Formats: sequence, structure tokens, C-alpha cells
Amino acid sequence: MTYAFRVDDDKNLEHLYWGPKIPNYDDLLYLTKSHVAGPFDPVGSVPAISVAKLLGLNELTGIDTGAADKWKVFTKQKDAEDGDTRGRRLENASWRLWNMERHTGGDLSVDVSESKLRSSLKMDRHASSASSRDNSPPPPLPSSLPLDASFLDSDSDQKLSNISGKGHATRTVERAQGSLGTDNTARTAVGMLPVKSVGDFTDFGKYAGARPGVTSPGPTSPALGPRRELGTVTGSSFGDIHGVVEMAWQNLDSTHVGKNTKLLEWSDSGTGDYREPSFKLRFQKDGSAICPLQFKNHSVVHRKLMMPSTSLPTVYTDSPEEASTLIIEMEDPVSKLKFMLYYTVMHDYDIIIRRTTVINEGSDPVVLEHLSSGMVDFDAEHSYYVTQLSGGWARERQVVTRKLEDGVTVVKSVRGTSSHQFNPFVVVSPDREPSEDDGECFGFCLVYSGNFSVTAEVSEYKRLRMNIGINQEMFSWRLDSVHGENNIFYSPEVIMSYSKTGLGTLSRDMHRLIRERLVPRQWRYKVPPVLLNTWEAVYFDFKHETIVDIAVAAKKANVEMLVLDDGWFGKRNDTTTSLGDWYPNREKLPYGLNGLVRAVNEAGLKFGIWIEPEMVSMDSDLYRAHPDWCLFVPQRKHTLGRNQLVLDFARKEVVDYMYKQIEKILNSANIEYVKWDMNRHLTEMFSRNIPAERQGEISHRFILGVYSMFKRLTTKFKEVRFESCSGGGGRFDAGMLAFTSQIWTSDNTDAMSRMNIQYGTSLAYPLSTMGAHVSVVPNHQTGRSATMKTRSLLAMCGTFGYELDPRVWDGDTIEEIQGYVKLFKRLSNLIYEGDLYRLWSPFRTTSMAWMVVSRDQLRAIVFAFKVTREVGRLEPRLKLRGIREDLLYCVEELCPGTVTMNPQNGAIMHDPRGVYQIGKRIDVSGRTLMSAGLPVKFLFDGDSVCYEVNAVDKNGISLIRL
Ligand code: GLA
Repeated sequence: MTYAFRVDDDKNLEHLYWGPKIPNYDDLLYLTKSHVAGPFDPVGSVPAISVAKLLGLNELTGIDTGAADKWKVFTKQKDAEDGDTRGRRLENASWRLWNMERHTGGDLSVDVSESKLRSSLKMDRHASSASSRDNSPPPPLPSSLPLDASFLDSDSDQKLSNISGKGHATRTVERAQGSLGTDNTARTAVGMLPVKSVGDFTDFGKYAGARPGVTSPGPTSPALGPRRELGTVTGSSFGDIHGVVEMAWQNLDSTHVGKNTKLLEWSDSGTGDYREPSFKLRFQKDGSAICPLQFKNHSVVHRKLMMPSTSLPTVYTDSPEEASTLIIEMEDPVSKLKFMLYYTVMHDYDIIIRRTTVINEGSDPVVLEHLSSGMVDFDAEHSYYVTQLSGGWARERQVVTRKLEDGVTVVKSVRGTSSHQFNPFVVVSPDREPSEDDGECFGFCLVYSGNFSVTAEVSEYKRLRMNIGINQEMFSWRLDSVHGENNIFYSPEVIMSYSKTGLGTLSRDMHRLIRERLVPRQWRYKVPPVLLNTWEAVYFDFKHETIVDIAVAAKKANVEMLVLDDGWFGKRNDTTTSLGDWYPNREKLPYGLNGLVRAVNEAGLKFGIWIEPEMVSMDSDLYRAHPDWCLFVPQRKHTLGRNQLVLDFARKEVVDYMYKQIEKILNSANIEYVKWDMNRHLTEMFSRNIPAERQGEISHRFILGVYSMFKRLTTKFKEVRFESCSGGGGRFDAGMLAFTSQIWTSDNTDAMSRMNIQYGTSLAYPLSTMGAHVSVVPNHQTGRSATMKTRSLLAMCGTFGYELDPRVWDGDTIEEIQGYVKLFKRLSNLIYEGDLYRLWSPFRTTSMAWMVVSRDQLRAIVFAFKVTREVGRLEPRLKLRGIREDLLYCVEELCPGTVTMNPQNGAIMHDPRGVYQIGKRIDVSGRTLMSAGLPVKFLFDGDSVCYEVNAVDKNGISLIRL
């Protein structure tokens, strides 16, 4: 991809382009010409002063039609002369202003002289001298000239198309290797950032006077010096432009189109851009909120810059060469506030990672009221669509696509977690709903687990602005003055991905990045053990022997780990007590955790444990000792959720205490896995011991506290695998994945519900991160039943485990489960490391199908599921994706169905022979598999099919070298 922006005449960062890779040598400046929205011609307002006079166009008078003709002729000539549309636009603008004068009764009695116009417009020096030759009085010059005019004066050969060239840096960030443009004359400031080539970055740095790793002043040509004004005319003359309007004719298509129309990379509020800003703040000194920023400098470093002194999760690299970072410094010269915008290009992924840091270098405190991690303006389209993942408890991450209309669409959480309801991941698709295999998609994924917002604003010009970051609702952050301790704020990272071949490619890029550069290093590529979790098997009702019996029974089916869920600590027998009291319940576990773990280990299983460290029950020793350690507002009612309160993780002493409790547990026994749960949302976000002016910081401080504890624990206990969970999938986000390689996807373990939930989750997150277990039928959440085959295949598209009570398994069940465990073990590397191709969407059809293809395209595994079957309808053939057209593949059906339907009475019956779709094996080309597809028949709701696809030679011998 290519991503480009530049510094404009007012030192704004002007967005130019984000899309497929385009040549580095193209000067994208011409794109800025699309900013004038249309004729501006207010009728009826009385001018305060004569525009024509002010601008020295007294000659622009006379009979309307004659003048209009002159303008047309002039425009044509101008075009013929240099074919320069910029010039034409200046004239159009002049024409509009002149016409405005006409409407508002200005003095238009003098004839138009072409050379005068040229001179007035200062289009070139020759024109200006021509005007002296025809003896007309020169137009009155303003007291000072706009920068571009002085620039032209000093360089008469400069074409208008380069009017902004000098000193205006185009920043282009792109993925693929490319060379720096060689034209260092007119476009000297055009800095291309071809990401694969370190050398090219050095060139870029050279231009800007930067050495790699060194912050340097950026372009310092006069064009970036202090702006001189041509003159101002109050808004009343022109109707409501933006209050005060600068009329610099020479600049009409750069500065004076107004910020509101421009595509920007970063935007303030209150100075003419009326769209959603990328930040908001308030100066404590005088209460003002105006802070227009100016580009100050840039630098490029050949690595990913990590955030210092914060526990915020980040994408990492294995070696510096994997990434390069462009750092843009914007400043408010008045207040000395500095905004650092970071753009990290991950060279091996089609991905840019952005974040923002604000530094108060002024002498007065400032309250930050909003800060985006990244903002992107998209040019006008016929329409835009946003695809989001929303839902609720036990119905997480349903795929919802909507067409954007004028105004602001928000996807957000104010619950203190990323939430079940919305996910900090969205996809923008221009002109149509996203398709799997074609069309453009732009993805945004915030690496954050707290309150977030994604705003999509369609402006009156049909341009789209996306802002993603911490939710400004319930957020503020006080930045001390330069003399204080806390004068820096870091935004979380946002991962931005682009695909021109649909959602499928976008997801695969995201999956690879998350798998390879976000989840903890020690767990990458490591398939977790097949576990059995006790929750749905026994809930709170167990004792030492129960757990040991479960372990012994599970071992028979080759389960590898037992996870003891809720109910093992304090006096916990239901949800009303003991959160916070992290010591074993002696009545249930008389031998303590250590005794239990030893017994489980002796049964041949590893041991994992459930904790919920962010919570406290009112009926707990912890609450009795520290009633002020929860989030609450004194004298106000506590809002309970699931009978519990939220601990104040914004306070260090609370986090430190809880860290020690959990550290003690992990040290007390051979615990190899932790399920970290979080079962309610945040309310009463108020923290004792934090000053009044910092209370807006609580929700963010809370999540920083959570991250810091995760960081300490995962650093100290590197060999312990963490799973995160929040009432199921209420905190399934990229922030959590930086600490926990997997997340419990949903409390809903019903197979049919899981088809939608896991499909939706896969838009952003890889299969390897999705906690997925086989649970009992009828299902505890929905009362529905599905076969062991379907439940197992769906769980295999995730971490694979069980929520069953193995003590009731008979010989056949044990054998069946052994078979699935074995199959998972055989396929898990492919499923965890391969590329996911979604084939049928349960949100568009009544089926769900996808396949995982190995990176070398020699192996694939195909899963198809029926959500609800319509009797008498045939299924379409399942057309495969992602394999090689020119190879021959052997297709084998795995796990044939064990039930069939009696055609006489429609009854579902056991079929010991196994029900096959295609017979046992066929050998066909990849081309045929992708064009003609595979037949699929489903016999009942929740039925499923699984094919293994392996490349073979013409003799049917496997091409796969193991
Ligand atoms: C949450 C989790 C479940 C289980 C319970 C225990 O709901 O999502 O998996 O751990 O808590 O209370």
C-alpha cells in the first residue's frame, strides 16, 4: 500500500492518499486540487467593503456578459498556455468573488484587462511586467504578500503546479520496496518512505537534514516560515464563510479553501474545521480550547519506537529492520504543546501502526479532553460503508455493516472494557458492502481494552473522517506544565490495514500480525494443551475429590490439562462472596491448591486456574479490610454487577496488593495456565486518593493498572500461559492479546451460536486466539443440541478444549473424543499458522464455511457448518480459495457423519457406516476445486462437513514434506 500526506502552506498535515501502491516518483500535490467544493455565491448580503477594490480588481467591471466572456476566453487561453488546472481554479475563484461583488452591488464599472488580471492574480512575473507595459496602474499591493506569492516572485520559472512545492513535504509511507523519486528540483520536499529500503529512508532523512535515529528539523524553506497575511475581510461581506476570511488569491486552493474542506491527517477544533477533531483540550490558565497545530519537524528511525514508561500494550518486532517509524512533530507555538505523531510501517505486513504522544512544554497545565490514536480523512465517495463487530453477552461480535449517511456514526464503549457490545475494530469499504475476495477495505484495530470510540463522520462534501482512540466520553487527562511530573500522555496504538482484494486479505494480514507480532513471544506458534475446564461441568459444586476424579476421567480421552474455574477460593459457593480473597477454600480443598495440583499432575494432566483479580465481593475479607479500594463515590450508592464491585485499579497500592496475591497463588503450586476473568463493567468511576482535577483519568488509569499487573505477571511467570475472559468475550481485543495468547470467545458454547460468534471474531482476530470448547448438549445457554462432530469441529477452529464432565463418559464417548483430540493434534499447526479463507458467511447465508491454507499452499483444511437447514433445499457447491490452481489436490473427507435421516419418517438415526459427501477420496486440480467446488449436503440443523486437502503428484503421492 501507499500512504501519503504533506505539509501544506499553513503547516497543517494534509492527507493525500491511502490505497494501493503507486509510484514513488508521482507528485501527489495535484490531489490537493479537489478541495474547492463548488461555486460560492451568496445572494443578498451587503458587503462591508468592496472585494474587487480590496483585491485590486477595479477593472473587473462592466457589462456582465462581456465580462463573463472575457473570463471564459481568459480561462481557455490560460489552459492552452500551460494546461495548468491550478491556474484555472484560481481564476474560477476570482470569478466567483467578482460575481459576488456583482450580486452584492460592488463597483464593477471598469473593463477587464487580461494582463491586469494576471498581474492581480500574480500568476507570473512576466504578466506583471506586461501589465506595466500597457500603462494601466498596477493593482494596489497589499501591505504584505502571501508566502506563495513571494516564492513565485523569487522564482518566475516555477510553474503554478509547483506553487506549494518548495518547502512542502509530501510524506509517503508505503509497504513495498520502491526507490526515492529522483526529481529533487521542483519536488525537493517530496519525501518518499519506501519501507523495505533502509537506504531510501536515509535519502529522505538527507533531504530533511535528518540522520537515522536523530530528530532533525524538517523542511525549513521560507515557505514554512511565519505566515504573512495578505489581508482579511470580515465574514459579513461573504456570507458565513468561517467568521473571518483571509483572502489570499494566490492561495485559494491551498489555505483558503478552509480547513473544513481539506483532507487532513490531524485536526484541531474551533479554528475552522467543523468535523470531529483528532484531539480536544482546555488550557487551565484561561479556559480557552483553541490549539491549532503546526508542523515543526520530522524524523525517521529504522525500527519500531516503543513507548517508554507506560504499560500500554504494543505490537513488537523481532529485529529493528522489520519496521521503520516516521515521527512527525506538531506544535502549538503559543502554548508550547507538542504532538508527536508516529507512523510505523511493518515491512513484512501490509500494515501501518499509528499512535500519538502529547507533551506539554508550556508553563501552564492543560487538560486533554480527547486524543485520537489516528485520524484518517477519505476523499469523497458515492457512499461509504462501515463494518463493525457488535452484539451483547453470549452474542458477541456479530458482523454488522451499515451505509454511512451525513453526520457522525460512533462505535464505542463506555463500560471500562472494550465490551461485548462493540469491538475496537472496524472496516471501511468505499461504495459497497465489503466482499470477501474483492473491493477495497480499510481496517482499524485499536490495541486497547478500555473505553474506546471509532467515529466515522461523513461531511457535507461526502468526505469521510475516521477517528479511533480512547473514548472522549468519561475521559480527560491533565498534563502538568513542563515543570510538573506528568506532562506526557501516550495514546494506544491503532493498527491500520488496507486491502484491495476484500475483507479476506485484510483479515489475513491482521491475523498474521497478531499471531506473529502481538501475542506474547513465548506462546507464538505454540499450540496450547487440550484442556478441560470445570465450569460447565460442575460450576461451584466441587471438592478436592471431584476435581481429581474429573482429571482421571479426562485423561482417558487424552485431555492434557485441567482448568479449575470459579469457586475454589475464600468461601465462594456462588457469586455473592469472596472475590478478593485469593486463598483456597479449605472446606472444598482441604489439601490446598498445592495438594490438588499434585493430584491432578499425578493423574497425568497439567493444571490451570481461574482468577478474577479486578473484582471484590462486599462479602469478602478484602472488602471488610479496605472498603475504599473499590470504585465508588462516597455517600452514593454502589452499583453492583453480578453481585460484585470493581477494585480501583487506578490506584497503585491496590494493583500492588493484588499482584502479590496472585503471585503467591502461582508460587504455591505447579500452575501452568491462568484464566483471568472480569465479570462486570465499570460504574462509579471515581477514585479515592486521586485529586479532583484528575478524576476524568480513572477509566484509562484503571486499564493501565490492569495492563501493568498483566505485564508484571507475564514477565515473572513466562512459562504460565494466560487466557483472558470477561463474561465470555467482553474484552476480546488486541490490547489483551498482547498479554494473553488466547481469549475466551463467548460464554455461549452452543455450536450454532458459535458459528456466528467465531466467524465475526475472525474478521480481526486469528483462530489461534479464540477460546473454543466442546460443551454438553442440550446446551446450557440455548437448550439446543448439536452432534459431537459439529461441536468438536467448531472447537478445533480455536484453542480446542472441553467444558464437559468426563466422569459420565462411556467407552464410546471416550473413543470418539480420543479421535477428535488426535485429529486436532494433527491439524493444529495448520489451523494456527495457516491463512484463513472464509467461504460462507452465516450473516449472509444459513451456513458457515471456511478453510485454512498452509503458507506454502500445499495443505488445507475445510470446515462447513449448517446453522439452520431448510428442508427441500440443496446447498451450493463449496468453492475453495487460496490453494494453487496448477496443483493437483487429494481431497479426503474427515469425520464422516454418524447420523442419517430416515427418508420414510424424517427421523435422525445413528448410521454406523459413516455418512460421506463425496466418497472417501478424490484427486482434483486446485483450479477445479476453486471453480467447480465441492458438493456439500447437510441433513439437519447444526450438521457439519470437514475436508482435508493435500497437494499430490499425478501418481497421487503427497507433495508435502513433513
Ligand atoms: C464468566 C466466564 C465463565 C466462567 C464464569 C465463572 O462468566 O466467562 O467462563 O469462568 O465467569 O464465574
